[in-house]
Amino acid sequence: MGIGGGAALDVARAMVLRAYHRDDLFKYDDLVGGDIYVTNDVPHFVTLPTTAGTGSEVGRSAIIADDETHQKKILFSPKLLAKIVFADPELTYDLPPAVTAATGMDALTHNMEAFLAKMYHPICEGIALEGMALVVGAIRRAVRQPDIAARSQMLLGSMMGAIAFQKGLGVVHSLAHPLSSLLDTHHGLANAVNLPYGMRFNIGGSEHKFSRMAQTLSLPETTGEAVVQFLFDLNSDIQIPHRLRDIGVQTQHIDPLADLAFADFAHPNNPKPVSRRDFKLLYEEAW
Ligand SMILES: [Fe+2]
Repeated sequence: MGIGGGAALDVARAMVLRAYHRDDLFKYDDLVGGDIYVTNDVPHFVTLPTTAGTGSEVGRSAIIADDETHQKKILFSPKLLAKIVFADPELTYDLPPAVTAATGMDALTHNMEAFLAKMYHPICEGIALEGMALVVGAIRRAVRQPDIAARSQMLLGSMMGAIAFQKGLGVVHSLAHPLSSLLDTHHGLANAVNLPYGMRFNIGGSEHKFSRMAQTLSLPETTGEAVVQFLFDLNSDIQIPHRLRDIGVQTQHIDPLADLAFADFAHPNNPKPVSRRDFKLLYEEAW
């Protein structure tokens, strides 16, 4: 059984894989085709999420950082899908506001990046739009004065984000992953700070999709820039900083971060290509 937030559930899932797969864990890394070695049975797996953000409770992969290279590895197999999920909003009642905000923004990032990801998957896009609406409709209340309705909505939006991102993620997750593996930044916080900048980068060529997102978010203007401004305002409302320098990033970190971001697995699904130079410019802009 896996109980906890995203990290705990991913570790539980890695242990589920480990039970009857005894080779070096990174041999099973999906990014190098290691999923073909996941051939044995796995124990009966049940998940109980205690945060609303990662959606790992409905996922099929465990994302684990390699301590030596700082790169994220993905242990993936459909066999790693939980047999039963107990998604009980009461288990998220005691989350402090900062964790509610950061994990909630992870869920929003999943829905937005999945909606934009370039793979063709209208079903995931429909789920992503509704997931976005649920998260945005509840996150301020969940942070400031949580009630059962807000906590339920956040948990649903979080699971929908994880279901939608079967379609792929994008530039924001590639900006966020190195912050966690290099500087131990909370995953949701790393996404939240980078989200407006990554979304602005994506507007060109995806104007129609930004217009759909703006409609879903009930914004008065249906432009990409209106979506970006909405995200900055939302971060302000839930006490998330606008700048990387406010979450421990220093200028000397930017080059190694850009190297890791460019090597990350998420951005090949971004609607437009992202070069190493783009990553550097995005980090500098967000700094
Ligand atoms: Fe995430």
